[in-house]
Amino acid sequence: WPLITMDTLQRVFKGTFVHSTRSCAMEVLEHHILGVGTSGKILFLESDQEQENLLQKWGFEESKIEELSQNEFFMPGMIDTHIHAPQYAFVGSGMDKPLLQWLEFTTFPTEETFSNLDIAENVYRGVVQRTLMNGTTTACYFATIHTDSSLILADIAHQYGQRAFIGKVCMDSNETYPKYIESSEESIFETERFIEAMENKKYNRVKPIITPRFAISCSEKLLNELGDLADKFQLHIQSHISESVDEIAEVMRLFPGYNSYTEVYDRNKLLTSKTVMAHGCHLTDEELSIFRRKGAAISHCPNSNISLCSGHLDVQNVLKQKVKLGLGTDVAGGYSVSMLDAIRKAIETSKIIFMEKQKRKQENKTLDQNEIAQNGIASDLNSVNDTDHDYKVLSNQEAFRLATLGGSEALNIDHITGNFEVNKEFDALLISTAPEIRAHENLFEIPTEDAVQRFLFLGDDRNIKAVYVAGRCVVPFPRND
Ligand code: GUN
Ligand code: FE
Repeated sequence: WPLITMDTLQRVFKGTFVHSTRSCAMEVLEHHILGVGTSGKILFLESDQEQENLLQKWGFEESKIEELSQNEFFMPGMIDTHIHAPQYAFVGSGMDKPLLQWLEFTTFPTEETFSNLDIAENVYRGVVQRTLMNGTTTACYFATIHTDSSLILADIAHQYGQRAFIGKVCMDSNETYPKYIESSEESIFETERFIEAMENKKYNRVKPIITPRFAISCSEKLLNELGDLADKFQLHIQSHISESVDEIAEVMRLFPGYNSYTEVYDRNKLLTSKTVMAHGCHLTDEELSIFRRKGAAISHCPNSNISLCSGHLDVQNVLKQKVKLGLGTDVAGGYSVSMLDAIRKAIETSKIIFMEKQKRKQENKTLDQNEIAQNGIASDLNSVNDTDHDYKVLSNQEAFRLATLGGSEALNIDHITGNFEVNKEFDALLISTAPEIRAHENLFEIPTEDAVQRFLFLGDDRNIKAVYVAGRCVVPFPRND
């Protein structure tokens, strides 16, 4: 018989809850009550008209209800689907090089120093604290090639109560910076050691993830064996794909037997429903259809794509192709640790693509007019196709969904977190919009949806009053005294 454990109601919050569902990019639930069990799961989310019934059903005292103030709302914790923990050491610097030079001159030399466990401990404590304060309740981390310092990152995420995937990075080729490398055998042996050590720790919410850095830094043999390991241990997988044009050219040079970058990962069993690939700016529709078939996801990291001049991901096209999509900061290719920044940059990237399409439309119109003037008729060659006509900019509601529910889908944990559906764990941010954002508070009331939008565009960690992971308050940090 299955063991049935009864959950008891631990906390009840009353006020406004804002989250996304599959059918609604942003649902604003005012005058609601939400109950959290001792398990950390959401037991109910109902209109407060049901309050009396619910309190009776669960045997909960009305005086213990925690009521939000007028300027506050709860939203789901944000999910950073792609972040390099060691690169927090140089975040905001080295922003003047394109990807491959940036890796060679800034990234690899820094990551190499993480063989030193004191350096690792210091930087990892910083990145976990800083992302949690900024509302990242789940982070999908790249560490470095060093197993023991990667285990320190896992331990710190666990200590602070962040939900996390931790990747010991694998790379057995590195032409540009040969000092930062491992042998293929070492890479596999150390990955297994990492997985086993993580299993022995029995962390509830911190899990290992198979992490080939990208095709350029991995031999075919290594990719293939990592695919086998992921299958054997049923693990998640992360890497980078089609981030910059130079990178793609290098991959095609190194893997001449493959037709596309996607095929390099796919034929080596690295594209599964538990895979998240960062960037994908230059993926063709054909490659995207492989992603869809395999249930693999893309992590859109717009700050990084702009900062390293890598390219723009067309989010609307990825959504149209029904590929799972989340947002990532990609620290330190991206210079901000905040998922609010990822939301803003995703919207801005979408606006840039929109303007480029508008410009092209205008240019084609001029071409048509010139042709009509010359030939009396315009050829069809210039006209834009239909999809460009109704191209829409990414809305703030949809970007909010990508940062929360979308991220949980991308990491294949949408049965556990991502919104406030009953039975999911309560990963949440208590947001206060006063007084920095609600500047006109004394003059007039603004609708909650506007307050949320203002928070998305103007808010920062000062507006995040508390952070919960699985019902436990993890920010403000517990005091040691
Ligand atoms: N491709 C391979 N490694 C990296 C990395 O560390 N950052 C980014 N943005 N792209 C990569
Ligand atoms: Fe990255």
